[in-house]
Amino acid sequence: MQKIWIGSTIYFAAFRLSIAIARSNDCNVIEFLSGFDVVQAMIWSHRPTKSLALMAVFPKLNTSHQSLTIGHGHHAVTLNSRVLQSPLSGVTDLVFRRLVRRYAPESMMYTEMVQASSLQHLKETPIIMEIDPDERPISIQLFDCRPDFLASAAVKAVEQGADTIDINMGCPVNKITKNGGGSSLLRQPELAAQIVRDVVNAVDVPVTVKTRIGWDEGEINILEFSKQLQDAGAAMITVHARTRAQAYNGPADWDWIRRVKDQLEIPVIANGDIDSVESAVRCLELTGADGVMCSRGTLGYPFLVGEVDYYLKHGVEKVKPTIAQILQCASEHLEMLAAYKGDRGIYQSRKHMTWYCKGFPGAHELRSQLSQIRSVQEGQDLLKGAIETLTIA
Ligand SMILES: Cc1cc2nc3c(=O)[nH]c(=O)nc-3n(C[C@H](O)[C@H](O)[C@H](O)COP(=O)(O)O)c2cc1C
Repeated sequence: MQKIWIGSTIYFAAFRLSIAIARSNDCNVIEFLSGFDVVQAMIWSHRPTKSLALMAVFPKLNTSHQSLTIGHGHHAVTLNSRVLQSPLSGVTDLVFRRLVRRYAPESMMYTEMVQASSLQHLKETPIIMEIDPDERPISIQLFDCRPDFLASAAVKAVEQGADTIDINMGCPVNKITKNGGGSSLLRQPELAAQIVRDVVNAVDVPVTVKTRIGWDEGEINILEFSKQLQDAGAAMITVHARTRAQAYNGPADWDWIRRVKDQLEIPVIANGDIDSVESAVRCLELTGADGVMCSRGTLGYPFLVGEVDYYLKHGVEKVKPTIAQILQCASEHLEMLAAYKGDRGIYQSRKHMTWYCKGFPGAHELRSQLSQIRSVQEGQDLLKGAIETLTIA
C-alpha cells in the first residue's frame, strides 16, 4: 500500500514537473499518451500559445482510441478516424472529396444531399451520386419525406457503393422544408422514425441521420427526436447544434450534443463550429461525442479534416500548409473540376477559388478576379502570379 502511495506521489510530481518544464521552455506541444503512462514534452518551433491552449482543453488525449463503429454485426462499418467531412451541397463532390481524402484517408466523407424522389425515373446515376471506385469510407446522403422513395433511393445508393446511407433531417432551406424534407422532419417525428425503419429494412448497410437540435428556440426536441430515431434503427446520429431558425448563424450550442450523447447508445457525432483542431478537441471534451464533423471550416481549406484527425491520433499538431501551398491546392482544385465537369466545373470553381484566397496582401483583389474566370488557364495564371509574389515577399 505504502509502495503504491510513494509510487503515485513520485509519478504525479514527475507529471507536474514535465508540464512546468514544457511551459517554461515555451514548448507548445505536449503529447499525453493513454492512461498518462508517458508524458512527452516536445519542442515545437511556432505557435506556442495555441498548443498550450490545446493542452489545457484536452489534457488527457487518448490517442489510442480513434476508431468509430457504426452499426452492429456483419453490417457494421468501422472507421479508423473520428473526424468526418460533412455533406455540403454544391461543394462535396467527388473532386472536393479527393482533395480532403488526400490528407484524411481514413475519414468518412459524404456526398452532397441527393433528392430521393429525383431518382425514381432516372436511368443514369446523377453526377452528385458518383463516387470513385476506391473511395472508402463514403456515405451517400439522401433527403425527402416519402419513406418509399427514400427506401428505393437507398438501394440505388448501396449499388453505387455507399458504405452507409445518411438521411438529411436538418436542411433549413425553405425549398426543402416546404416539401416535408430536411429539418421539417423534426416536426414530424413519427414520419422521421418511419423513414428510418423503412430504409433500414431496405438495405444491408448502416442507416444514419444528420439533424439539428430543433425547429426553433421554442421547439428544441432533439432529446426525444434522437431517441425515437435510435429506437427506429438509426445506427448513428450527427447533431448540428443549431435550430432550423438559426440556419447557420449564431454559435452552435454544444451542450445539446452532450445531452444527446448522455442518453443514446448509438454513436453521436458533433457538428457546428468545428473549424479548427482546437475547436474539435474542445467539442469532444465538452460533449463526450464519438466524433466530430467539419463543415464550413473546410471551404477553401480541404486540409482541416486531416489536421484534426492527425492531432487526435498523434497528440501533436500537423504543420500547417503555407499560403502558397493553399493557393497551389486551389490551382489543382480548379484543374480537377474542369477535367471532371468541363465548363460547368470552371463555373463552379469560382466560389471555391474565392474561399481559398484569404489572409494575405492582395487577397481581396485576387478573389474578385478569380470570381470571374472563364478558363483554367486564366485561373491558374492568376494563382501562379500570387504564389510568385508571396514567395518573393
Ligand atoms: C454551403 C453549405 C451546404 C450544405 N449542404 C448540406 C447538405 O447537403 N447536407 C447536410 O446535411 N448539411 C449541409 N450543410 C450543413 C453542414 O453540413 C453543417 O451541418 C453546418 O454547416 C454546420 O457546421 P459548421 O458550423 O461547422 O459550418 C450545408 C452547409 C453549407 C454552408
